[in-house]
Parts: sequence; structure tokens; C-alpha cells
Amino acid sequence: MKITTVKTQPIDGQKPGTSGLRKKTRQFMQPHYLENFIQSIWNGIGGVHDKVLVLGGDGRYFNDRAAQVVLRMAAASGAARVIVGQGALLSTPAASNLIRQRRADGGIILSASHNPGGPDEDFGVKYNISNGGPAPEDVTNRIFAATQEISEYHIVEAQDVDLSRPGKTALAGMVVEVVDPVVDYKELMQGLFDFDAIRALFASGFQMRFDAMHAVTGPYARAIIEGELGAPAGSVINATPSPDFGGGHPDPNPIWAKPLMDLMMGAEAPDFGAASDGDGDRNMIVGRGCYVTPSDSLAVLAANAHMAPGYRHGLKGIARSMPTSGAADRVAEALGIPCFETPTGWKFFGTLLDAGRATICGEESAGTGSDHVREKDGLWAVLLWLNILAARRVSVASLIAEHWARFGRNYYSRHDYEGIDSTAATRLMDDLRARLPDLPGQVVAGMTVSGADEFAYDDPVDGSHTGGQGIRIGFDGGGRAVFRLSGTGTQGATLRVYLERYESDAARLGMESQEALAGIIAAAGELAGIRARTGRESPDVIT
Ligand code: G1P
Ligand code: ZN
Repeated sequence: MKITTVKTQPIDGQKPGTSGLRKKTRQFMQPHYLENFIQSIWNGIGGVHDKVLVLGGDGRYFNDRAAQVVLRMAAASGAARVIVGQGALLSTPAASNLIRQRRADGGIILSASHNPGGPDEDFGVKYNISNGGPAPEDVTNRIFAATQEISEYHIVEAQDVDLSRPGKTALAGMVVEVVDPVVDYKELMQGLFDFDAIRALFASGFQMRFDAMHAVTGPYARAIIEGELGAPAGSVINATPSPDFGGGHPDPNPIWAKPLMDLMMGAEAPDFGAASDGDGDRNMIVGRGCYVTPSDSLAVLAANAHMAPGYRHGLKGIARSMPTSGAADRVAEALGIPCFETPTGWKFFGTLLDAGRATICGEESAGTGSDHVREKDGLWAVLLWLNILAARRVSVASLIAEHWARFGRNYYSRHDYEGIDSTAATRLMDDLRARLPDLPGQVVAGMTVSGADEFAYDDPVDGSHTGGQGIRIGFDGGGRAVFRLSGTGTQGATLRVYLERYESDAARLGMESQEALAGIIAAAGELAGIRARTGRESPDVIT
């Protein structure tokens, strides 16, 4: 087979963001765009000669074509083997698991996560390292540097590899091993959770609805929840991955998973509802009449994880991203274990998990996971919830009420202003940054600022320093507002405003979040001049 070397030139803007390179699908489909980036990954990691890689994606439009390109480029650069999910599918956590189990050198995940898919929507490529986790900043920086220097790429000229059946084939001397995407992941889950107890829960008439949102978790959820755990057929819905996610937005939050929310808030609600995103690493948890915020979910899981066999010896530590609420910190304190505060993005948890300093991690953006892989894991969170409910036999609402009664409640909400003008967004952040030293003591919308800074992180394991990770404003009384610009969007800028307030008064635990946070919302809006600068009257998405 012929290896072709194609002359190319650097393409602007191939800088990996919070989670890999995400762009409009049509941009990825432009001549050389994908090839340049893949070659830059190879160049940035010191080549793939003799290496073993894992490859899979969330099934979105262009996933199949891109997988063939990656295979031909891995073969051209001398990779020994690529382990690829059947149909080029692998959920992000399953890919992380495969990299670890097979001791691969790394992996390519084709996904733009929860962003919509299709020719006019989004596509993405992530590189994960040998621990199974997202490439850390030094690696993504080298990849980005390589995109700016690239002058040629190498690709094998060959027919498409048949990825429709498990088995091994050869491509220019490289082994292509097609594996069932679900089998290894299912085994991993079996080892962590008490499947017998969950089976007994379903056998007792417990009802659930899992919305796979037409994305990659469908086959996993069907095989595990309906297949292994005996939930009745139909418990998992929208379970066939489709290239455009059924025309939807595969983001498991109350806005985009509205049909599930409506069901769970209605008279016919099952006991438990859950959803996962495009690539299967996010989760949403809802009880009958009771939405659980991701920050609360992390805290509840951490407080009860010992009920699952995989965590019966307890947790070494908890880690959460800075904008995530402090609910988990209170659990860590009660358990006498450390709680780490990291920048946004799963890549910052990797060192803590590798070093055995944290067992469970989470982000307010519907990401929860543990040291079983090095990615967040949607179905894992759902199964841990099921395991806890099977052990406790109480409703989600009473488990949450019990948790707040014990630890207090961190009222929490995130307001997103999407697709705003990038210059206006940068200016808003710059101006706020410039005012940081003067803010303490000022009274804004009736709230007194107690502290103001920009979050920076020194990794306690590898000593790396990451700055510019969000502006934090603390208010007298313990509330806070955090401002950050999204690093995963593909159009304009998205301003995220994270709002939080702690309440321990038993009589005040049952408020509606927006109402409980009204004072902080008003102060945050005025401080940053959100309305004037973005031209928006209200956020596009409130979670
Ligand atoms: C968002 C979330 C972040 C998450 C990332 C990838 O990033 O906020 O917590 O890790 O998606 O799923 P952002 O767009 O805020 O940079
Ligand atoms: Zn995702």
C-alpha cells in the first residue's frame, strides 16, 4: 500500500480548548483540516511509530469518515495497532477504559460532546494520553505548536477498513482491531456496583427512564440497564445513536432534556430519571418531582459511595472544579478527607486520580466520575445512584432532603449568555479583572463584596501552574459569583456566570433556586454590566 506525503500549510485556530478541538463540521471537512490536526497530534506527542492507539467517537455526522482518515494516518506513521470501537463508536468513558485496560499509548476520540451534530453543527477531536485521560495542557500546547509549524502529513492510500464487525484486519502493516464498544465497559461497571441489589430494586417494581438523547450511551444503557439489570424494555429511550442526535441538542440539562424533565415533574413520573450527552460522559439525575443539580449529585454520591462495592473502603479525596458548588467540600470535611478545587475541565483531575489523592470528581456542568477511568462518566453516575437507591430504598427527594438536613444546602445556578460578541465578552472580563483590587468593600445591588480574585491553580502533584481560570467575587454572608468564558464553543463567545449561596437554616432549605439567589444574581449583573455589554436582557440557558 502506498504512503502519500501531502504538502500542507498551517491552518489558523487549531488550538484545543477545554476539551479538544471543536469546530463547525464543515470546517473540519475542508481540505487538509482534519489531516493537519491529526498529523499535529502525532507530531506533538513524538510520533506514533510502534504505538498502540484506541479510536472511537460519539457517532455524530462525519464520525465514520474521520475515523477512516485517522486509521490511514496512524498506519502511514507506523502505528502498531489501533483498537477501534465497532462502527467507529466508543463513548468517552469507554474509550478511557479501553486505553487503560489495553495499556494503549493513547487514543483519539471523535466528539464535540454535548454540542449538536450534523453538517451544519459541530465536530471535534480529542487526544487522550496513556492514563486514559484528556491530554494535559503541556501536551495540548505541543499539539497546538505543531499545528502552527506543519508542512506535510502522511496518509496511506487505501480502501475503507470494514469497521462493521469485531475482528482484526491489517492496514499497511498496522493491525486494526475492531471491538464491541460495550463489553469491556460493562465488565468494569459489574466490578464496581452491586448488580444483584439493583436487579432486586427493579424486580420490586422500581421504574426508571434513561434518555440517551439519540447519542452514544444508548447501546451501553440498553445492554446494562435493560439487559443486565432487568429494567423493563422501554426504560431506555432514544437509544439509537444518530448522526444528528435526532435533530436535538444532546446536552443532559433541564433545558435540552425537557421531555424527560416534564415526565419526571408530572403525575406519571417513574421513580428515577437520567440522561447522558453526545459522547456519554455527562449525566443528569432527576427523581420524581425532584431535579438534582450536578453539584448536589456529586456531594450525595461522595457521601454514599461506600454503599457500592467498588468504593466500600471509602474515598481518598474529592475533587471539584472551581465553579462547582461547595456542597462536596462539606462532605469531604465530614469524611475527614481532602477536597481539591481545580480549574474547569476534566484534564485537571488526572494527576490527582493518578496519584491516588482523589477518588471521586465532579463538575457543575453535569460531569461526575471516579478513578475507575480518567474521564467523567455519565452511566457510571447513574449506576452509582441506582446502587445507593437500591441499598437505601428511599426516594431521590428524601435522599436529597436528608442530605441538606445534614450538610446544609448550597443553592446554585449557572447562567449562560451564548453566542455573544467575542470582543464584548473579552472586554467584560478584562474590565472586571482590572477592577478586582478595588472591589472588596464595595456595595453592589445591596450586597457587600468581601473578596475578589482571578482563580489560578497550582497542581499539587506535578506542580504545573494554570492561570486565568475564572473571576471570583465573594459577598458578605458567604455567597459568590464566578465569571468565565467558555472554552468549548464554536461561535462567538459564551459567558458563564456561576451563582451560589449556602443555607443551613432548616426552615429555608426548600426555596426555589433563582429566588434564593436573587440578590447575588442582581449583584453579579450589575458588577459586570452584563445587560449593557452583551445586549441581553436575560441568560439563554439557566441550569
Ligand atoms: C464545558 C464545561 C466544563 C466541561 C467541558 C467539557 O466547558 O463548563 O465543565 O469540562 O464543557 O465537557 P466550557 O465550555 O465551560 O469551557
Ligand atoms: Zn461529553
